Order: sequence, then C-alpha cells, then structure tokens
Amino acid sequence: MSTLDNTSLKLPKENPGAEDFLPLLGTDYVELYVGNAKQAAHYYISAWGFQPLAYAGLETGLKDRVSYVLQQDKIRLVLTSPLKSGGPINKHIDAHGDGVKVIALWVDDATHSYNETTARGAKAYMKPNRVKDENGEVVFSGIHTYGETVHVFVERTNYQGVFLPGYVKWDPRYKAPSVGLKYIDHMVGNVGWNEMDKWCKFYEEVMGFAQLISFDDKDISTEYTALMSKVMSNGNGRIKFPINEPAEGRKKSQIEEYIEFYNGAGVQHIALATDNIIETVTALRNRGVEFLTVPPSYYEDVLDRVGEIDENLAPLKELSILIDRDEEGYLLQIFTKPILDRPTMFIEIIQRKGAKSFGKGNFKALFEAIEREQESRGTL
Ligand SMILES: [Fe+2]
Repeated sequence: MSTLDNTSLKLPKENPGAEDFLPLLGTDYVELYVGNAKQAAHYYISAWGFQPLAYAGLETGLKDRVSYVLQQDKIRLVLTSPLKSGGPINKHIDAHGDGVKVIALWVDDATHSYNETTARGAKAYMKPNRVKDENGEVVFSGIHTYGETVHVFVERTNYQGVFLPGYVKWDPRYKAPSVGLKYIDHMVGNVGWNEMDKWCKFYEEVMGFAQLISFDDKDISTEYTALMSKVMSNGNGRIKFPINEPAEGRKKSQIEEYIEFYNGAGVQHIALATDNIIETVTALRNRGVEFLTVPPSYYEDVLDRVGEIDENLAPLKELSILIDRDEEGYLLQIFTKPILDRPTMFIEIIQRKGAKSFGKGNFKALFEAIEREQESRGTL
C-alpha cells in the first residue's frame, strides 16, 4: 500500500519565492549505505518502530548488494550493503561510514525533472531509466548534490508493487510497534567552509527552491563554537533542506567535526515529525535511543520566552524536549546523539504546533549540549 498517492499537481504554494518547475511531490525514500544492512534494519525496527516493507538481494537476483526497505507512515528508509568488495558502495562506506547516499524525490515526470535540472547546471547521476516488473513500471533519473549525496527522481504513477521493481515484500515474523513518526519534516546538509551560499544557489537555480530563512553565526554560536545556516524550500513546502557551514569560533565547530569524520559534505540530520512528541520520545528512550539533554535551568524561564503551551512542562523537562515559538505558533523538538559510531548523522524529532521555523531560540542551549558531547570525544 502506498501512502504517497493522494496528491495532484495542484499543491498549495507555501513558499511564494520558489519556482517549482519540477514540481516535487514529496520525499519518496532515503537510502543509507551501511556496513551491515541486516543488522541496521533490526535497529530501525526495534529502536525506531519502522515496519518491514520490502527486500532485494541474492534471492531476488541481485549479485553485488542487498537492500532492506522500512516504512513508518510516510517515511521510507532503504538500507543497502555491498555483498562483495571493491565496489562503489564499499568505497562510499569506507570514506563516510554509514550515511545517506540518496534523497529520493517523488515526481510526476522523472525525465522532465532530469532534463530541467541538468539544463540548469546539475551534474548527471543517472539518465532517465524505465524499469518494469509484473506490477508496472517506474522511471528513475538522478543528479548529484553536495558531497557524494545524490537526488534520485522517482516517477511511480504506473507502479502498483510493494516498493519499486525488483523488490519483493518483506514480512519477517519479528516486528515492533510504531513510535508514531509521521513524515520527514526536513533534512539538513553540512557543507564545507564558505560553501553554504554555493549550495543554496544550487537549490535555487537547479531545483527552483527559494530561501525560507537564514541564521548567521550571531544566532548560532556559544562562547566557543559557531555555524551558519540557510533553509531552502520548494514551492509547496514539502521539501525543506537547511544547509549548514562551519563558522569561526574559539573552538571547533560541530560542522567541522562532522566534515572531518564524514570526510566531506553530507546529510547531518533527518527531522522526523510526530503528533505527540512526549509519547514518541518516551517510546524511543525506552527502546534505547539516546538524546541530547539540556540542564534543568533551561525550563526555569522557558515559558517566559515561548508563552503558554498545551503540554505540561514536567514531562517535557523529564525528557529534555525543547520548546520554541515564532509568529505562527510553537514547536517542540529534541535531537539524538549521533546514531553511528562516527560523530556524523543524528535524528531530530519535531512536533509542530503552528510554528514553521526550526527552533532558533533553542540553538544556544542545544549547541552547549553538543559541545559537552564534543568535549567527551576530545573533538572540541
Ligand atoms: Fe533540524
């Protein structure tokens, strides 16, 4: 069953500056290259409440790799590992550790998306490619973005199968309950020194995005470390890509630490939305997911800053959930520690109650929490 099939081209315009010539209907899937996809799948099922969806590997005719597909509401993860040595997936893992390779975007016309973006300067990753099986056909194409990350355009109007051609339904006996994650709210890219504007321009010129918001090092700095960030979004607002670059501080920026350990630019965090952050984070903590914490003093004056909220403060404080407000409402958010051995990727859990921003009011408390972690790793 596809949960992504209820939209037409007539989407409301959320970001008036964006051209939206593609247009993008949503995130189709996120593919991570990982050292051991079987065990990673178990982690995302057990700890994160994803449901097994599809599989491709030796049993389905693949010779060199294996992929497990997991789903939770509208979020689809593909976990891929190589089965032999020396190939491009191995090289990716050797360079970056486990990490996001593909941010796949759902489109009505993958050929058009390829032609439009490459004509506007995108570097080609995959020419339009029609793939069929007994459940229909899918057209793929792809372009490069920052680092070794790529965007694959997926046109699936004429496909009725479980995921994509070549995949079979994966229905293991072991499953774990959902934790209430709904959709990808945003995905953040870390890029190198002075590269933020270059990549924002890429999303503007090549993809037709427009800038929603920007933060400079005065917004995002502590006594020691700093970064800069701009948020790019497509016209219907379904795709939001903040781009971060390091900024000079007295000590090493968390973005610089990421770039060193990831060996270049890449996806820093995936923000997953929930309708009930207290229930979601309680479940995740009980299943072993580790979150950054803020000192209890954060909660002493937080309501003075954000005003009245629907939730009781006690469970938010107990779970270290952060609160921020903008002109349109408020949001609740929390960040995991890195979910890999390298201090690279982490996950954000976010519940929006009207707010469309990204938690600027929490940056200082958050970055002080990250600095405590960097200190413990000896990378501050
Ligand atoms: Fe975020």
